[in-house]
Amino acid sequence: MNIIVTGGAGFIGSNFIYLELEEHPEDRIICLDNLTYAGNLSTLEEAMKNPNFRFVKADIADIEAVHKLFEEEHPNIVVNFAAESHVDRSIADPSIFLQTNVIGTGVMMDACRKYGIKRYHQVSTDEVYGDLSLDRTDLFFTEDTPIHASSPYSSSKAGADLLVLAYYRTFKLPVSITRCSNNYGPYHFPEKLIPLMISRALADESLPVYGKGENVRDWLYVEDHCKAIDLVMRKGRLGEVYNIGGHNERTNLEVVKTILRELGKPENLITFVTDRHGHDRRYAIDPTKIYNELGWLPETKYDDGIKMTIQWYLDNKKWWEDILSGEYTRYFERMYSRR
Ligand code: NAD
Ligand code: DAU
Repeated sequence: MNIIVTGGAGFIGSNFIYLELEEHPEDRIICLDNLTYAGNLSTLEEAMKNPNFRFVKADIADIEAVHKLFEEEHPNIVVNFAAESHVDRSIADPSIFLQTNVIGTGVMMDACRKYGIKRYHQVSTDEVYGDLSLDRTDLFFTEDTPIHASSPYSSSKAGADLLVLAYYRTFKLPVSITRCSNNYGPYHFPEKLIPLMISRALADESLPVYGKGENVRDWLYVEDHCKAIDLVMRKGRLGEVYNIGGHNERTNLEVVKTILRELGKPENLITFVTDRHGHDRRYAIDPTKIYNELGWLPETKYDDGIKMTIQWYLDNKKWWEDILSGEYTRYFERMYSRR
């Protein structure tokens, strides 16, 4: 099969490409990515050596480039990871989030309609459900939880999800959607909580924790997410949404303290800063549906996964130091100087 993976130079997409090349050597993978600040081609260096892999630099919202690629590659499956993914950036400037996450999704699906496709799979997020309160730990997001997005990022992802389901109903486009909780692991861009805290702790810099650090995220090792997407795009029912999560809820403060402990760094590096606007309090996924229908269960326990991740950042300093020395540094100053 020919599989187009959009956003494959980013965090989860690149992990997914390596999984596919390993687990399905019979398939050809075409990565479509326009290399925004979050796309890092060096991440795909090993994949480039595989004759079954091709990288194409283009915007998913560029109709001409997308149609040209479909004519060249005749894809059987499209998996859409490409997105603007950082909540804080969406609060600073929402417009690119609408362009890529909504318009880009529409352009990809229109190409699928025109050229025909076995499956269009949309990689979505638990953030489309909004948040849960901190004191109702009995509540979880199910696929029937109403869409109730909080940030420009999550509302653009919710808009895309609605469009995907509309294309299923109106045009019978063979679609599926997965909504996953917070991922962590190798190649995570160092603007997100875990890699940011690891890189700053290693430099003995302050660790900016929003508010009181009480917000809760449900952490899943990235490889487990990729395995779930692989299952759904090959075997999941068409027109369906599947939630993905591993019941690993932690407060942000717990996550940061674990990182400091593992690195042997003092807790006085923690600095409480002004909270994120509209900060979602708690995410928690109920993954019963994907377990019942497809037998998916997470394989990596959080306690092991966080140690493996910290070790990866220690072993791959060049990967993230190259990022920190570029555009990201200026971004960091813009984002944190007024806090
Ligand atoms: P990321 O920011 O690390 O990577 C995004 C990739 O998309 C980059 O390679 C970037 O260059 C590319 N891209 C951005 N705009 C593009 C465009 N217009 N055309 C082509 N390529 C473009 O993101 P991530 O964390 O790997 O997330 C991937 C997907 O998974 C996103 O759709 C995100 O909403 C979703 N998701 C992420 C998480 C998480 O915890 N990171 C959890 C659930 C769902
Ligand atoms: O739930 C899935 C989502 O998880 C994905 O859809 C998003 O693409 C992904 O970025 C992630 O969103 P979050 O906003 O949860 O991730 P982030 O790493 O930005 O923040 C995690 C938590 O840590 C959040 O409560 C905000 C807090 N935080 C974050 C940063 C960057 C801090 O306290 N300090 C920080 O400097």
